[in-house]
Amino acid sequence: MVGTDIAIDLGTSLLKIYAQGKGIVVKVPSAVAFDTIKEEVIAVGREAYQMVGRTSERVEIVRPLNNGVISNFSMAQHLITHFIKQVSGNRMFMPRVVVSVPCVITEVQKRAVVDAISATGVRKICLIEEPVAAAMGAGVDISAPHGTFVVDIGGGTTDMAVISLNGIAISDSIPIAGDAFNDAIIKYIRRKYGVAIGERTAEDAKIAIGCAYPKRVLETYTVKGIHTVKGLPQSLEVTSDELMEALIEPAMQIVRKVQATLDVTPPELLADILTDGMVLTGGSSNLWGLATLLSKKTRIPVRLNEHPEDCVAMGAGKALSFIDVMDNRGGGTLNPLFAQY
Ligand SMILES: Nc1ncnc2c1ncn2[C@@H]1O[C@H](COP(=O)(O)OP(=O)(O)OP(=O)(O)O)[C@@H](O)[C@H]1O
Ligand SMILES: [Mg+2]
Repeated sequence: MVGTDIAIDLGTSLLKIYAQGKGIVVKVPSAVAFDTIKEEVIAVGREAYQMVGRTSERVEIVRPLNNGVISNFSMAQHLITHFIKQVSGNRMFMPRVVVSVPCVITEVQKRAVVDAISATGVRKICLIEEPVAAAMGAGVDISAPHGTFVVDIGGGTTDMAVISLNGIAISDSIPIAGDAFNDAIIKYIRRKYGVAIGERTAEDAKIAIGCAYPKRVLETYTVKGIHTVKGLPQSLEVTSDELMEALIEPAMQIVRKVQATLDVTPPELLADILTDGMVLTGGSSNLWGLATLLSKKTRIPVRLNEHPEDCVAMGAGKALSFIDVMDNRGGGTLNPLFAQY
């Protein structure tokens, strides 16, 4: 058997790898722990993420990706190589790869993605635009003459695009997503209680009780931090209403961007979107009540997938079948959405 082909989603928060015939086989934090004195990588993925906020000064936790764009090349290469090797083992034939990239990306940024992946020795690399992959992963037929609005709320950015006939009619992006939600919680607790909490504590509280729409039953969660004046450790009980107070501003920034994108969508495509609803993907669309908030404010129904954070990698995985068609035609770009390296 020739090596299994794979699809990669280089997320700001999570690196996902889809293996043909198996589904998502890797879903790990996009993090690398680096010993700055020995100048070597000491952990990658989940192991590195667990060190966040717990390292000595000599260990730096690097997040080498920023919405599919590489912000630290050598660390990104370490991360990608480690997990591609884990997936492909010691096979003689290295896999062919489809990797998703944001639609607004420079040639230099594209080249960095291709170079970081090709260092592993993969046979061929094809790029697919992220919103297209997200739509395919959510089960949309992107070749239809029909407008589909995809909103991908990830860790670093919220990307949105109107897709029709295999093409992106309109797209936009805002650097507000899961990380901004965590920051909002950190700032809120510091301002209200004078307690500094870490990034991971904020993330855990957000997932446990965070919401962007009022909950019927108030929920509570205990966070641990350091009192900023006394300098002592302190436990604190926060409520879901308090977290909503913190999260509503970044959530409304996303809502306003979605509204602005819909405002410039051509009427025929908008009519399709009004009937079908918008397709929500990305891990942060799991935030409780965010889909409801979006739907109420825009008056457009929302379609949410069961595993929204997997959609981009699943869609890139579906696109693997295009590689065969391209191979049979002796190369060349089959699809305008699909660039081959
Ligand atoms: N239940 C949940 N509630 C709120 N947020 C969640 C939940 N589950 C996951 N998230 C958030 O989803 C984000 C990760 O989603 P995803 O994997 O789609 O991002 P990414 O692809 O890594 O980032 P980007 O697309 O911006 O590069 C994290 O910020 C995480 O906190
Ligand atoms: Mg993503």
